[in-house]
Amino acid sequence: MPKGTTLDGSHLKSLLAWNLPDVSVLEAAAPAGEAAPDTPEALVDEAAEQAVRERFCHFDPDSEVGRVLFPLALDREVRRRAAGVQREAAAEDDAATRAAVEVPPPLASPEALLRDEPKLVSPPEVYQRISEVLRDPTSTVEDAAASIRHDPSLAAKLLRLVNSSFYSRTMRAVGGRFPAKVDSLSRAVMVVGGRQLATLALGVSVLPLFQDIPPHWVNMRVFWEHSVGCAVAAQAIALARGQDDAETAFVAGLLHDIGRIVVFKQASHHMAAAMRRAAAERQPLYALERETLGFDHAELGGGLLRKWQFPAHLEKMVRYHHNLDEPLFLEGPAVIHLADCLATAMGWGGSGNRHVPPLHPAAWEELGLSAEDLAALVPGMEARLAETMHSFFPDRAGPP
Ligand SMILES: [Fe+2]
Ligand SMILES: [Fe+2]
Repeated sequence: MPKGTTLDGSHLKSLLAWNLPDVSVLEAAAPAGEAAPDTPEALVDEAAEQAVRERFCHFDPDSEVGRVLFPLALDREVRRRAAGVQREAAAEDDAATRAAVEVPPPLASPEALLRDEPKLVSPPEVYQRISEVLRDPTSTVEDAAASIRHDPSLAAKLLRLVNSSFYSRTMRAVGGRFPAKVDSLSRAVMVVGGRQLATLALGVSVLPLFQDIPPHWVNMRVFWEHSVGCAVAAQAIALARGQDDAETAFVAGLLHDIGRIVVFKQASHHMAAAMRRAAAERQPLYALERETLGFDHAELGGGLLRKWQFPAHLEKMVRYHHNLDEPLFLEGPAVIHLADCLATAMGWGGSGNRHVPPLHPAAWEELGLSAEDLAALVPGMEARLAETMHSFFPDRAGPP
């Protein structure tokens, strides 16, 4: 929470939800304008404010949500700059300087693009097993664990996720007993629930297919930091709304921009043109993808998840996260849309666009949260992001 925040009921509710009995009060960096002019601190503040204003060029900092999100984003940017952490280059930073190439005509369809990626034709074998368990209403908790056990590296990743302090706090908050260490999948099933663990496993099992992001587009760690940031935000938003499918929201957040990886690889000239125009015309990147490609990365990602027969609800959350005009599919996509805005606003990684997408008013209204509710969730999300990144990248080098 930014310096000077007055705790109210929504903050306390969120502290209770995270089961935090006490918090440390840190001295925050002075907000822009308070430091004496021309001191190194004032220069850092000024540069940070400029960077965050640019990031919010499509998102009104004086709107209901902007009023709470902008100071949080600025506070994080000031802290990061004061600590000497340089933001890793986002792809769009280079797009404006990239030499102009002839813009190819729009592509026929998302399906045509997916056909050119042979390894995406079918997901890993373990995925098929878990997917069968999820589709079969008579399957048992042991079936879910058994299907995951076939892939030891997947099982290890899931156990690291489930052993995170997030689950232990959530369990304590609902009065459940959390085993000191979840060392077997059967116990993980007890903590998360069989179907939700299988959904988590589905999402994590396909991640190795997306390891080779061409580095000149976006650094892979930065891409996954954005994806995990969106995942933890989506999970926290779903929990704050009392939904019982928070793991589905987590997986949809994790995979929401995978369509962009396919575009980086299979339609790089189109993407270069879209990025160049997004930078020059200051328009949202997804809107320019639609003009240059004929569809955006969300539609492409949705197409891929449909091909793999992911649960339909999860596929729609990905497919419509930038298209909130379809009232039939508003609630799920709205969770991902808000989580994506939040992760981009806070500068958690990046997937190619450095501007916060404009918040869709109907999506915000659908979620029924207050701006203060949302702001109170951010510190917990930030802690969980660090922890989850560590469980995916234990050595800070390898892929998820
Ligand atoms: Fe997106
Ligand atoms: Fe995104």
